[in-house]
Amino acid sequence: MAILIKGGMLVTAEESFSADILVEGEKILQIGPNLQVAEAEVVDATGKMILPGGVDPHVHLDLPMFGTVSSDDHYTGTKAAAFGGTTTIIDFVSLDFPTLRESVDKWHVKAEKAAVDYSAHMNLTRFDEKIAAEIPSLRGMGITTLKVFTAYNGRLRLDDGNIFKALRVARDNGMLVMLHAENGDVIDILVAEALAAGHRTPEWHARTRPAWGAVESALRAFALAASADAPLYLVHMNTGGEVDMLQYARERGLKVMGETCPQYLFFTEDDLRRPDGAKWVCSPPVRMKTDNARLWEGVSGGTIQTIGTDHCPFFFDGTKPILYEGKPVAIPGKELGADDFTKIPNGLPGVGDRLPILWTTGVGSGKLTANQFVALTSTNPAKIFGLYPHKGALLPGSDADIVIWDPQKKVKYGVTLSHQRTDYNLYEGWELTGMPEKVFLRGQCIVDGGRWLGKAGKGQFLPRRPGAPVL
Ligand code: URP
Ligand code: ZN
Ligand code: ZN
Repeated sequence: MAILIKGGMLVTAEESFSADILVEGEKILQIGPNLQVAEAEVVDATGKMILPGGVDPHVHLDLPMFGTVSSDDHYTGTKAAAFGGTTTIIDFVSLDFPTLRESVDKWHVKAEKAAVDYSAHMNLTRFDEKIAAEIPSLRGMGITTLKVFTAYNGRLRLDDGNIFKALRVARDNGMLVMLHAENGDVIDILVAEALAAGHRTPEWHARTRPAWGAVESALRAFALAASADAPLYLVHMNTGGEVDMLQYARERGLKVMGETCPQYLFFTEDDLRRPDGAKWVCSPPVRMKTDNARLWEGVSGGTIQTIGTDHCPFFFDGTKPILYEGKPVAIPGKELGADDFTKIPNGLPGVGDRLPILWTTGVGSGKLTANQFVALTSTNPAKIFGLYPHKGALLPGSDADIVIWDPQKKVKYGVTLSHQRTDYNLYEGWELTGMPEKVFLRGQCIVDGGRWLGKAGKGQFLPRRPGAPVL
């Protein structure tokens, strides 16, 4: 039966207006005032906001790391996403097999249990003639984005020449290169020196990964992109200096864009010095208060286009089971690095936290308008990654991925509300105002208040189009 959502305030990236939405099957059929339909299930949204489902362009589900694996798989991570109002996620394919094709095929097997819609970026962590020749075929697999790294020497890093070559192949095929910006050489030297000096605590994770490495490698990659006449997207921006570099490059007409993540807007090296500091270990690391502030300026002023999460959770104490869907689960986590910061699995939970946290701290505090919130967390990622207007939009013909948002709902947030499969939450005890009330995925209600109505495997793979716009 059709669904008629009545009396809500629609919030898009451009405007907010009162209207009803008629959903037929998986799509939005009609939007307008006082819609009357003979046969429809009516959902009363009076006093609520209606948002397009969130699009998280950066998550790592079921990712092997340091002898363990990120603790949310494609089902549990997408369920957590849905509870937080996100109905599309983009994961990463690790280049673990000889060819791109085999790596993508193996990833599909893991990803098919997703409960919301999903796609993937290709981690381009090797580059040679064979890989270069295979890249155009990714388009036929629906994958149009390539992540490259200037850090993780000997493991994931490409040298500048190969990044330049990858940028040219991407340009010629309407694809987008995404950059992890840190200086791998400097990190290796500082890590070796820190260990030799007996430093073992989590704060050394940040002290051995200097912010200047992120700044210089961001600018270096922008210069490579300009030289290749190719677009570039800077992931997980964590320093104020990266915002400066992105602004500098964009003011000069370069086709460069940026993403930050909530952790870089709120947390600092001080958190790494807490007794439970390992909870905040991620790469790139959290920085200083001045970086938080400059990144906020970047999102509110329009220099940064998206806020993703880099969701890559681990247990804080993976020796102690938690109950997940009534069953005990324990997955080795941050305790692996109890005596050595280099062995702490890198990454944080966040896919379900993103919208609730940003609504209160961004919209609630006046740093963002509700329309900017939608642009940063849904519409812009959908556009940049070739999913718009199928996703990220409240338009007739778009997928009926709809969040009924209660802007008055007050909660004490934390691990029990977030549904991420881990034993901690970075925002434990934060007082939030504004939460998703109902979440629809292609016309199906999958979250209703605290109730989970979704199912493993109901998410669809989203093949993406090349030639997406540069925002
Ligand atoms: O610590 C993090 N972010 N782990 C995920 C890998 C990455 O580089 O995004
Ligand atoms: Zn990265
Ligand atoms: Zn990442």
